[in-house]
Amino acid sequence: MNIEKSLKKILMTKKEIEMHTSRLAKEIEKDYKDKEPAIFLGLLKGCHPFMSDLITEINLFLEVDYMDVSSFFGEMEAQSEVQIVKDMTTSVENRDVVIVEDVVDSGRTIKKVQELLISRGAKSVEVVTIVDKPSGRKVELVPKYIGKELGNDFIVGYGLDYQEYFRNIKMVGIPTEEIIKEINEKK
Ligand code: IMP
Ligand code: MG
Repeated sequence: MNIEKSLKKILMTKKEIEMHTSRLAKEIEKDYKDKEPAIFLGLLKGCHPFMSDLITEINLFLEVDYMDVSSFFGEMEAQSEVQIVKDMTTSVENRDVVIVEDVVDSGRTIKKVQELLISRGAKSVEVVTIVDKPSGRKVELVPKYIGKELGNDFIVGYGLDYQEYFRNIKMVGIPTEEIIKEINEKK
């Protein structure tokens, strides 16, 4: 299998990713210079490559922590549930937190995490995401820092997976039907 040839359309190149990451790092650096040290909270596993690239471009004292949440959303809002698979270990009480995500789609996952952090006493909670899919939004949520806005296609790469694959390519794109079929047969 050639992983890069498994994309039928590239929506963000390596160069674009680097450009957006640098821009976001500079914006955050400016906004958080009086809030040192903020906590950068990555949502596993998708945040991984973006988190690493982003924080190494931010020239501030900062802390890093992670949370793994699994989301189940029923048809009705009341059925929505976010389960914490792995919690963070840092206390957020009276702290400025920046949630780091690969993509915000419906916004439900981030919204729940945001509410949880506020209930734990966080001073502020903002969101940085490399990809935003605003057309998929089901709750009111506007990430403060956005890399690139994309449409409603299912995308992979740079942390985003299909059946755990594709997280390791430094580009974002739409997988071919053939590779999806091949992966489905394998799993
Ligand atoms: P939400 O719909 O905003 O709650 O997004 C929940 C999670 O779904 C994200 O953190 C991603 O892990 C995943 N997700 C949403 N859209 C895509 C996609 O296009 N490709 C891969 N994963 C996605
Ligand atoms: Mg995710």
